[in-house]
Amino acid sequence: MSPHSQHFTRELRNALGCFATGITVVTARDEHGSPVGLTVNSFNSVSLEPPLIVWSLGLQTQVRSVFEHCRYYAVNVLAEDQVHISHRFASRDADKFAGLNLTDGIEGVPLLDGCCARFECRNSLRHPGGDHLVFVSEVVRFGSSDRPPLLFHAGAYRKLAPRE
Ligand SMILES: Cc1cc2nc3c(=O)[nH]c(=O)nc-3n(C[C@H](O)[C@H](O)[C@H](O)COP(=O)(O)O)c2cc1C
Repeated sequence: MSPHSQHFTRELRNALGCFATGITVVTARDEHGSPVGLTVNSFNSVSLEPPLIVWSLGLQTQVRSVFEHCRYYAVNVLAEDQVHISHRFASRDADKFAGLNLTDGIEGVPLLDGCCARFECRNSLRHPGGDHLVFVSEVVRFGSSDRPPLLFHAGAYRKLAPRE
């Protein structure tokens, strides 16, 4: 299989989709103070000491320059009843924040209500990663709840199965 063929890319996407993830919405404020955000499942933990997380941002996203320049941003880990939030923040034209309750975090970063966890991050290191920009950032404040998480696997949303 040639790594440049459409077949390779499709099969790679399918294989990568075997790795189940949670779903997050990464939020920040633009230079006018307006909230911006997008649905992200490339989030993961990197290090506890220092406290670092990672995620990657598509170079084609409209919000790219905001995330390249903002000092802080937040990672909101969605709960299982927030599929509609994931849909909304993954769509280009939606008024993403309409009707949502926001709390201001550090330097006003918008925090979403009803999440499993929220991480406020200092926007320090960015690395080129092919068609994405990879963010490795320090967690400066966080909180979590007992809400069950929203999961994503093989292109579909899932819920946690009850414990055996
Ligand atoms: C389940 C799911 C996971 C996604 N994960 C990412 C991601 O990790 N990084 C990314 O840049 N876009 C990701 N996206 C796509 C963005 O959410 C989508 O392109 C968004 O519309 C970009 O916003 P904008 O172009 O309006 O700024 C994901 C979408 C979905 C549905």
